Amino acid sequence: MKINKTKIHRIILAVTLLSLVSCSSPQPDTPQKARVGVACYNQSDTYIRQLTDCLRDQFDQLTNDQLDLTMTLRDAAGSQRNQDDQVKELLDAGCSILCVNLADRADPSEIIDLARDHKVPIIFFNREPVAEDLMQWDQLYYVGADAKQAGRMQGELAAAAILSNAQADRNHDGKIQYVVLEGEPGHQDTIIRTEYAVNTLKNMGIQLEKLSCQIANWNRAQAQNRMMQLISQHQNQIELVLANNDDMALGAIDAYKKLNVTESVLPLFFGIDGTDVGLKAVADGELSATVYNYKEAQAASIAKLAVALISGQGIEEIEFKDEKYIYLPHFKVTADHVEKFISYIDTIEDK
Ligand code: BGC
Ligand code: CA
Repeated sequence: MKINKTKIHRIILAVTLLSLVSCSSPQPDTPQKARVGVACYNQSDTYIRQLTDCLRDQFDQLTNDQLDLTMTLRDAAGSQRNQDDQVKELLDAGCSILCVNLADRADPSEIIDLARDHKVPIIFFNREPVAEDLMQWDQLYYVGADAKQAGRMQGELAAAAILSNAQADRNHDGKIQYVVLEGEPGHQDTIIRTEYAVNTLKNMGIQLEKLSCQIANWNRAQAQNRMMQLISQHQNQIELVLANNDDMALGAIDAYKKLNVTESVLPLFFGIDGTDVGLKAVADGELSATVYNYKEAQAASIAKLAVALISGQGIEEIEFKDEKYIYLPHFKVTADHVEKFISYIDTIEDK
């Protein structure tokens, strides 16, 4: 009888201990380590460099006692073949998630096949694959910005500046003579931004005359070259420069500076991005306005989605468009409130 009582006590004790262990959540001594592979198309691109800096900050901030995130960044220097090789290396090194800024947005198949073989999800960003490619596997996502909104906002900013400034139509012919500096052909932002900016200007009652549209591949030096040619072709006729991004708008300004053109015959310049140099040019009054391409929010969304995919937790809190897409908004930036953007960035960088 006595033995039985002891036995029962032991059993009760064992059951209590067991239930205690299973009720309390397991606390790992060491955090789960996860490697994040980031493949970008070109680190010499100003906007991409700033976006990937934000991404690194975000992964640092999300590192905690449970999850230790290490981000490895690879630069394809514009070549899809380089990027395919880099992705293979990142997967072989044990990355559990890939964030890919495609070199050629029309050619992601190799990367998708590699990732699927390794069962590693991909978050594409900034350079949007076509919808059919994103449908190839259910572990493919895209984070970016709405190109239509960027173009529309640029058009509205340009229209407002023209309508409030009688000198914008310098030759007083009732029309605005304009040139466009475009990003890479085939990039979703190039085609759509130009179309929406020009149509918005027209819809807002501005009479336009297109003098030229030149491709400068997002690049400041190329834009300067193109603009030098345009200035020599059209002399003082150009009244408006619409650039698909800030770097190209700044390249156009560089061309006028290099040629020492007097201020009274300068056109109005508009960019998109709100890079550090772009915001400074707005503050200095050189760039009439820009459209803020919200890199901090894009980076935060990429990082949050990456952690959800790695940990298997929190994905239901994330809002997608068509189950795969996340688009972040833009903001208009003029000299009136550019300081707010500059101090916002300073605070984030000080953190
Ligand atoms: C940015 C450009 C950048 C390009 C790269 C665009 O969204 O506005 O500045 O060069 O992305 O893909
Ligand atoms: Ca005119």
